[in-house]
Amino acid sequence: MTKPVVLISEEEIQTRVAELAAQISEDYADKGDIVLVGVLKGSFIFLADLSRRLDIPRTIEFIAVSSYANGSKSTGAVRLVMDVRGNIAKKHVLIVEDIVDTGHTLKYLIGMLESHLPASVRTCALVRKAESAEVDVDVDYIGFDIGDEWVVGYGLDYAEQNRTLPYIGVITPDDRDS
Ligand code: IMP
Ligand code: MG
Repeated sequence: MTKPVVLISEEEIQTRVAELAAQISEDYADKGDIVLVGVLKGSFIFLADLSRRLDIPRTIEFIAVSSYANGSKSTGAVRLVMDVRGNIAKKHVLIVEDIVDTGHTLKYLIGMLESHLPASVRTCALVRKAESAEVDVDVDYIGFDIGDEWVVGYGLDYAEQNRTLPYIGVITPDDRDS
């Protein structure tokens, strides 16, 4: 795979993550504890940076899902691989996702977490592919809107590669297929 082309630099990401954390801290200021639910694996770096910049009480949970995909195209069917461990009933939940593409994963996660009867469920995604939406799903906090391209880095992968790049880069279709 050739080197990804920088789409969003490390500095741009860090600035935006700080802005999102400030907004979330303000919105939840008088709500008590918030539970950040990171969606594995892609959100792990975003969650680490975002959570450390919040100035409200927070706890961390993880959830893992797998979407049935053909290559890089999601089929829309989502399967729960690991549920949250802690009790989130009556808590304010913020789902932290790496990227929203078709929206199927986030829609599934909202329904899944609502079944635990939390006080509220909101959603935060570092990146959204606005043109790729197939289902209507609210993303309350969005880092960046991008076009329909495959991105890697800052937690995002292609076939498990390039997750730990400090920036978000685009790989070309040739890179995807090879
Ligand atoms: P959905 O299509 O919105 O359900 O997105 C499903 C999942 O596909 C996301 O949570 C990501 O894990 C993954 N995904 C979608 N687009 C990209 C991308 O461009 N790079 C890396 N992962 C992606
Ligand atoms: Mg994901």
